[in-house]
Amino acid sequence: MGVVVDGCPSGLPLSEADFQEELDRRIPAEPKIVSARIEKDSAKILSGVFNGYTTGAPIAVMVENKETKSSDYEGIKDLPRPGHSDYPARIRYGGFNDYRGGGRFSGRVTVAIILAGTIAKKLLGRYNIDVLAYTTAIGKVKTDKAFSTAEIRKNRYAAATRCPDLECAQKMEEAIVAAKRSDNSLGGIVECIALNMPPGVGDPLFDTLDGDLSKAIFAVPAVKGVEFGVGFKTAALMGSENNDAFLMKGGKVVTVTENAGGILGGLSSGMPVVIRVAIKPTPSIGKAQKTVNLSSMKDAELSVKGRHDPCVVPKAVPAIEAAVAMTLADHLIRGGIIPKILREH
Ligand SMILES: Cc1cc2nc3c(=O)[nH]c(=O)nc-3n(C[C@H](O)[C@H](O)[C@H](O)COP(=O)(O)O)c2cc1C
Repeated sequence: MGVVVDGCPSGLPLSEADFQEELDRRIPAEPKIVSARIEKDSAKILSGVFNGYTTGAPIAVMVENKETKSSDYEGIKDLPRPGHSDYPARIRYGGFNDYRGGGRFSGRVTVAIILAGTIAKKLLGRYNIDVLAYTTAIGKVKTDKAFSTAEIRKNRYAAATRCPDLECAQKMEEAIVAAKRSDNSLGGIVECIALNMPPGVGDPLFDTLDGDLSKAIFAVPAVKGVEFGVGFKTAALMGSENNDAFLMKGGKVVTVTENAGGILGGLSSGMPVVIRVAIKPTPSIGKAQKTVNLSSMKDAELSVKGRHDPCVVPKAVPAIEAAVAMTLADHLIRGGIIPKILREH
């Protein structure tokens, strides 16, 4: 897996250890809730960093796929997995696509997203902008707690399911184990907040901040919905209920409520950006399902074997954080808020 990040300002301190810290967050320590593939990822910087600082040249970073078992896919290459990309990918690439492990549709692509996000998060950190993603629902188990930022920071990676409500996190874990035991899988919801975004960032009409954030988040496999602030609930509100009234606080323009999720007119409003992401249940399940044999063109049945995640939500959390960080950093550079040369401050 690899990534080339172009356009990163020069002068940002960057090391392989920075990537490692983020990559390690991808794999929860609880083996009961993840795939049996133990992906010990380590990043290698190929270009764009010299003497510990970014040079302004494209930054290439790679991670080797060491934990592969391609034989798991031989038996099913003509049997598209229901819910997976196998069938449309075979049509789109004329059968030349690498079907092993799902190829470019594998959840492994989140490694590359996380590599890019690591650079973005370091950049954003210099401007005190923090991006925090965490799980709020797995299947039907959900938390309604309003978390403080301190609680999110402290707890989100403490639980294997990445839910900062540790009691609920335990129940989520049990739900995943139960789904796995019955040869099934679960989806869930990831919430992501971005704090301290300055107002006025975005590039309407076609490069709105919410549009670009959604596009980046949809690059994470298994994402099926993205909403901002109150999201779909906004449709049932009256204008007077939905509008976030403005207020002066400590010399700053703020809003009383936060229904808009920190974005108005495709531009950041200066309030926290709040995004919720719906993730579907893992397609590859052991339960028998109907499919077709694309070689004989006859109906068939498939029960997927191999090492699959019974729920991809925990691994998707740092990927969504990375996709959001990447988009915000990009827009801050485009808007001239992050300069082309970073100097120590
Ligand atoms: C981190 C991560 C890990 C994933 N692991 C699996 C897996 O083990 N088995 C599987 O069938 N799908 C897995 N997926 C989901 C598929 O990649 C995804 O559902 C598929 O590419 C179809 O794309 P779509 O769901 O976005 O429509 C994973 C997704 C992510 C984000």
